[in-house]
Amino acid sequence: MNTCVVGLQWGDEGKGKIVDIFAERHDIVVRYSGGANAGHTVIIGDDRFALHLLPSGSVRPDTICVITNAVVVDPDTLIKEIEGLAQKSITLKGRFFISENAHVVLDYHKKEDQLREESLGKDKIGTTIRGIGPCYADKVGRSHAVRMSDFRDLDGLKAKLQTIVEYKNKIFAALYNAEPVSADEIFEKCKSYADRLLPFVTDSTEFLHKSITDGKSILFEGAQGTLLDLDHGTFPYVTSSNSSSLGMPAGSGIPAKIVDKFVGVAKAYTTRVGAGPFPTEQDNEIGQYIRDKGHEYGTTTGRPRRCGWFDAVAVSYAVTIGAIDSIALMHLDTLAGLKEINICRAYEINGKEATFFPANIARLSQASPIYETIPGWDTDITRVNDFNDLPAEAQSFVCLIEEMVKKPVTIIGVGPKRSQTIFR
Ligand code: GDP
Ligand code: IMO
Ligand code: MG
Repeated sequence: MNTCVVGLQWGDEGKGKIVDIFAERHDIVVRYSGGANAGHTVIIGDDRFALHLLPSGSVRPDTICVITNAVVVDPDTLIKEIEGLAQKSITLKGRFFISENAHVVLDYHKKEDQLREESLGKDKIGTTIRGIGPCYADKVGRSHAVRMSDFRDLDGLKAKLQTIVEYKNKIFAALYNAEPVSADEIFEKCKSYADRLLPFVTDSTEFLHKSITDGKSILFEGAQGTLLDLDHGTFPYVTSSNSSSLGMPAGSGIPAKIVDKFVGVAKAYTTRVGAGPFPTEQDNEIGQYIRDKGHEYGTTTGRPRRCGWFDAVAVSYAVTIGAIDSIALMHLDTLAGLKEINICRAYEINGKEATFFPANIARLSQASPIYETIPGWDTDITRVNDFNDLPAEAQSFVCLIEEMVKKPVTIIGVGPKRSQTIFR
């Protein structure tokens, strides 16, 4: 059984928790896109892990973890994560592999990300400043890219960095009047990255195909969410990779047809960090209620997340383009205490009703949500583990979502812990 878990909204849907649960039944967990912009929370007992680059399976001692070609690797963050696990006596030795073809995020990428965002003022994208856009831009541009395999040839890398850094410094000075970065300092850091990370570097495509032949089961872990997908999300307020399930085959070198089940993760409401249109946003006391109750602050940047009602138009779109088979609906517990709950079933755009999500933001910005309003519930559901024990209103809410999105909700989150999960 091979599975792909992917976010159906604008990220932070609870993928880390679901991947951790599914990892028990898979041999290998694969990160196929994005970089340290991701923040996936896994809670085991009293331990809380916020993983940015390591697959969420890494906290399980026997799970093999792989970072494939289309992930952009920030060595500083990755080394810190490896050390963080080691402090908890979790070792990755012999069970962690990084693609030799994965691109590397270096200091000048993070600097460029920050300078560009600052220069955009009110038009900024609201990135995580993790250097994601600049690194993917260098990948697409090809001539200034550094990949994990470059750590094998340090003399070659030294020369390459001189050329790249000279070019970057011209841009920093000319466009931003900013201080230069030092090629020598970056190279010194690269030597230590090589030392720490080369033992994990391999041909991940060959490794995964061999594993499939050997009958191993693979769990693909999406980062970000479908609406942040570079080609299919709300461009330009997106990330710089294919963060929907469509990025899985291209990012990993494994055809999508080997996946038996695509599981989409969505919250019982919607959140978004960073800028961009958000039709069901509640920039009011309801949004604040959800933010406080759901602890909606970014795992990576700590920014308060924008909160709003569940948007069935957006989630249906993510389900459709992502070939999603079933849904994990998280944070149902967070909605408890609201008198009434809204679900957006359609948009009104220029006087016409629309049910197909317009990813084009000029049209999306004109969308007014059309809501179905249902009664809420006041009971604490964080200890419920059977669907039939949920308040009738909560059951109706879940059934209404299934009806609108036309896919079964097979998992329901009622709290952050592994045990706070209802399976149907
Ligand atoms: P990811 O990026 O999709 O992995 O999600 P994040 O980890 O960034 O954010 C999800 C947050 O919600 C984390 O703090 C989780 O511990 C928490 N969480 C996950 N599922 C649930 C749930 O069902 N209920 C509640 N209350 N919290 C949850
Ligand atoms: P996980 O995997 C939520 C958002 C940023 C910004 C936009 C572009 O934890 O769900 P970037 O740094 O990628 O150039 O920022 O994308 N973003 C996320 N939002 N969860 C994430 O990851 C995100 N990764 C990027 O906030 O709006
Ligand atoms: Mg997150």
